[in-house]
Amino acid sequence: MAADDDRGWTAEDVPDQSGTTVVITGANTGLGFEAAAVLARRGAHVVLACRDLSRGQRAVDAIRAGTPDARLELLALDLASLGSIRSFAATVAATHQRVDVLVNNAGVMAIPYRESADGFEMQFATNHLGHFVLTALLLPRLLSTDRSRVVTLSSLMHKRGAMDFDDLFFRKRRYQPWAAYSQSKLANLLFALELDRRLRRHGASVISVGAHPGYSSTELQARGPAMSRSTVRAVMMKIANALLAQSASAGARPELRAATDGNARGGDYFGPAGFGEVWGRAVRVQPSAAARDEHAAARLWETSEQLTGVRFGI
Ligand SMILES: NC(=O)c1ccc[n+]([C@@H]2O[C@H](COP(=O)([O-])OP(=O)(O)OC[C@H]3O[C@@H](n4cnc5c(N)ncnc54)[C@H](OP(=O)(O)O)[C@@H]3O)[C@@H](O)[C@H]2O)c1
Repeated sequence: MAADDDRGWTAEDVPDQSGTTVVITGANTGLGFEAAAVLARRGAHVVLACRDLSRGQRAVDAIRAGTPDARLELLALDLASLGSIRSFAATVAATHQRVDVLVNNAGVMAIPYRESADGFEMQFATNHLGHFVLTALLLPRLLSTDRSRVVTLSSLMHKRGAMDFDDLFFRKRRYQPWAAYSQSKLANLLFALELDRRLRRHGASVISVGAHPGYSSTELQARGPAMSRSTVRAVMMKIANALLAQSASAGARPELRAATDGNARGGDYFGPAGFGEVWGRAVRVQPSAAARDEHAAARLWETSEQLTGVRFGI
């Protein structure tokens, strides 16, 4: 249930973003696209970080159709490849003096077993490790930009997640797509909260904020069934989306609030205000006890550095 009694945010509450640079992963569709469109309309320079440039270009064209003077930049980023993340971050660092907001939005959900280019289980690689590395590599730009922030997308499913540090990639146990997704989304929130604690200890003005969109109708729900060629799951997901989900634009509210609310504090977590945090305006919500476990967060941090070979330096 929502832990806040404010009236909650909609896209109308996003303040003027002129002069800011915002990087959004997975901005070509779903929540990332909706957030990019709103931020561009409010005057931000938006870097759309997309793994498929033709899908990315279609998103750029769609945003420009509504906001002809939108300041948009399309760059290739595959979060399932450490090499791709390094080259994306190097391009951003070489061409941008400031990064005001990094939105770690991209994700995959409940897909069949796949491995990333670096041999990691795909959901953990894309959802957590990729964003961990991206944040580390963009940190110098975030640190040199006054009052910048990192927004990381989690999910209601983080509450069902458990970290299995002895078998993060499901090599010893049977692969379960939903358990892998929930573990990766718990990792997202553990990371968001641990990042904020480390930034505070470092004395940085950067804040780290979490967000989740409740249940929002996007392409996310269709990917798993399509990859496993399950028509039954595809139809069930379609029906559930039609009956239960809010729109993608409504689902983008928590990440928009996390990215732009001047009163947001480091370690805040935003989600929908409605019953069960499924729909509604964006308010502060509570992470699970598991997401607030500082011991697990520190272990995840060290493990992520060891697996990727990338260190934060804070
Ligand atoms: N929708 C919901 O109800 C819901 C609920 C809880 C949490 N979330 C979270 O919200 C975030 C956004 O999801 P969504 O609903 O907007 O999903 P979506 O419509 O499927 O969009 C996901 C985005 O992530 C991108 N992506 C996937 N793998 C990538 C990779 N390896 N490298 C770079 N980009 C990659 C996709 O690119 P392509 O188009 O090229 O595949 C797409 O742009 C995710 O983190 C998800 O876990 C969503």
